[in-house]
Amino acid sequence: MNLENTMSQITKEFSDETQRQYQFIENLKIWYNKKTQEIGRTLTACVQCFGCQMNARDAEKITGILEQIGYQMVETEEADFVIYNTCTVRENANLKVYGRLGYLNKLKKKNPHMMIALCGCMMQEQTVVDKIKKSYRYVDIIFGTHNIFKLAELMQARLDSKGMIIDIWKDTTEIVEDLPSERKYRFKAGVNIMFGCNNFCSYCIVPYVRGRERSRNPEDIVKEIKQLVADGVVEIMLLGQNVNSYGKNLENPMTFAELLQEIEKIEGLERIRFMTSHPKDLSDSLIEVMKHSKKICTHLHLPVQSGSSRILKIMNRKYTKEQYLDLVDRIKTAMPEISLTTDIIVGFPGETEEDFEETLDVIRKVKYDSAYTFIYSKRTGTPAASMEEQVDDAVVKERFNRLLKEVQTISAELTKKHENTVQKALVEQINEQDASLVTGRLSNNLLVHFKGCEDLIGKIVDVRLNECKGFYYIGEMV
Ligand code: SAH
Ligand code: SF4
Ligand code: F3S
Repeated sequence: MNLENTMSQITKEFSDETQRQYQFIENLKIWYNKKTQEIGRTLTACVQCFGCQMNARDAEKITGILEQIGYQMVETEEADFVIYNTCTVRENANLKVYGRLGYLNKLKKKNPHMMIALCGCMMQEQTVVDKIKKSYRYVDIIFGTHNIFKLAELMQARLDSKGMIIDIWKDTTEIVEDLPSERKYRFKAGVNIMFGCNNFCSYCIVPYVRGRERSRNPEDIVKEIKQLVADGVVEIMLLGQNVNSYGKNLENPMTFAELLQEIEKIEGLERIRFMTSHPKDLSDSLIEVMKHSKKICTHLHLPVQSGSSRILKIMNRKYTKEQYLDLVDRIKTAMPEISLTTDIIVGFPGETEEDFEETLDVIRKVKYDSAYTFIYSKRTGTPAASMEEQVDDAVVKERFNRLLKEVQTISAELTKKHENTVQKALVEQINEQDASLVTGRLSNNLLVHFKGCEDLIGKIVDVRLNECKGFYYIGEMV
């Protein structure tokens, strides 16, 4: 949503909090203009984002606020304001940030106007904030996942004080709507439908850093999508950690399947995607809605995590291998063309060779178009972190490689099946390697490269998939 932002336009339609934040943005605009005159150039800002689509959407909100203030957005960290939107789902995501902070310090020493802010999931961990307070004193602002809407207010606080500004909320029930937001693409957009997670899978830190599950009102969601469509968006991705439990805590409860039916009605919207689906909450009515929908893409991301019912129980996933396979059966019977993808964790505490074989068995039975495979990473504070029997690194590595091989073989076979068919592709960009080609996304989420020019970007066109290259196609427009 690209809102024009003069204060006069911020009418009573907006909540008090939204209006308050626009006031801070207005104040900062004045500060920004003074500052640019003082130093004789525009100020630049860089938002670096780690982690999932939810974080990417938050980064767009951050960018929206900064652009309203006046900042020129740049890709490089040699900027006047650098913001890291962090992820902590696995340890390596976390370590990356510390690695880069040292580099930022060097840049800051060269640029007296530079500010550094850290936000996102990592900042919701007390140990992280303590460490930054102690060893990374040059960070200016730290905020978390619940108060992104306050960025302008926090910047103002930093300008008014000398020290580091830290504002972390443990949790919230508040959803602040209608703040500015920038979009990375003009033809597709992510739309939050819910925040937080209540599932507490025993390995996962997300519920601790994203708080309890809360759904946005359907009216707000539909309004946002209508605005996006009016702005040229044809494809939306509905975002939530567990979209299948959407609407349970609304004043007027509503199911995800019902929400999808409302969204389907929006004229001009061509494609609907969503993630992530938790298998335990995927209803038969959702399968029905998907089956009859003209707009929902033929792709479902259905994380299995493990194929062993014993491990699934300890993971607190609330389904067995058999229930998962039965669900997949029902989905495939209703929609034989559906492309299924998944997430798998290898090396969960206590995972035996037999457990791992069960995972391989699920992969062979389901036949995923692709799978994100992760080595289990111990997250402090989660139940799994204190489980004994953490699996030996070498064993995990060996299982991981076997898993990857299996996934890749199956996915190559599946991709091959579509060769020589004609399918609709949404053209997303000029091909990165060859400027005479464009890259389009098929309904099943795979990519196809074909001759075309910039004018096609954002359009949905028919493409013949001439040649399968493993995970993508070379095609031609028909
Ligand atoms: N809400 C989504 C997943 C969000 S996290 C869902 O339930 O499906 C994305 C993926 O990261 C998870 O599906 C899981 O496979 C992986 N993941 C989460 N915690 C992890 C950990 N501690 N170690 C390794 N992988 C993890
Ligand atoms: Fe993590 Fe489980 Fe919630 Fe997904 S559903 S975010 S894996 S706790
Ligand atoms: Fe990472 Fe937070 Fe997403 S921990 S995966 S950015 S919800």
